[in-house]
Amino acid sequence: MQPNPNNAIGVFDSGVGGLTVVRALMERLPFENIIYFGDTARVPYGVKSVDTIRHFTAQITQFLLQKEVKLLIIACNTMAAVAAQVVRDLSAVPVLDVIEAGALGAIATTQRKQVGVIGTPTTINSNAYARAIHQHAATIRVYSQACALFVPLVEEGWLDHEVTRLTAQEYLRPLLAHNIDTLVLGCTHYPLLIPLLRDTVGPDVRLVDSAETMAQQTAALLEKMNLANPQRLAPEYHFYVTDI
Ligand code: DGL
Repeated sequence: MQPNPNNAIGVFDSGVGGLTVVRALMERLPFENIIYFGDTARVPYGVKSVDTIRHFTAQITQFLLQKEVKLLIIACNTMAAVAAQVVRDLSAVPVLDVIEAGALGAIATTQRKQVGVIGTPTTINSNAYARAIHQHAATIRVYSQACALFVPLVEEGWLDHEVTRLTAQEYLRPLLAHNIDTLVLGCTHYPLLIPLLRDTVGPDVRLVDSAETMAQQTAALLEKMNLANPQRLAPEYHFYVTDI
């Protein structure tokens, strides 16, 4: 059955980092209602086991489906990496995930076909980005780096701090040694580090912010499936969290 176009888009993340995706959606799709769910009681997911992440993801999916969303967006790279199928199996409405969006963004951006991907340990260990990129463009070389310290540094608000700068240099050195021309920010928190990461990688490496690509992909899907909200009213936004 076709979902009701007036219903909200459901967006979820392990915490509040997915608001980077919500912000991009609000700018790109100003008439869409949005319900956001952030699992602040149990964040971070990026260092948890795959089984635990799948279990939590199923719970969140069921919660949002009860709210009768017309589309589900997995804003969390970690959940998208290891639990996207759980969401798709439970859901009768379309599902978009940030990994597919980031992969398409990388393919559109790279010129030398040398792509770096950074993310949480779970995201990088899953190899989901490389698989998603290779599904569409088998000749692109993908180099990955887990950056376990970035999420706590961002949560601490150290967006322009010497410690974060040194950490970024350390993490990115191996990727830069491979002469990448594109770097995928494979985690909800990393768009907040864009100025610092730009300084670290230099002007020859382009950054792919999957929040931006996700907003474009959402607009295209709503259009294609006739699911765009026809009402031209101020949208409603609802935010749910599981803890402070
Ligand atoms: N939302 C997660 C991601 O995008 C980062 C925070 C976490 O580890 O839960 O991978």
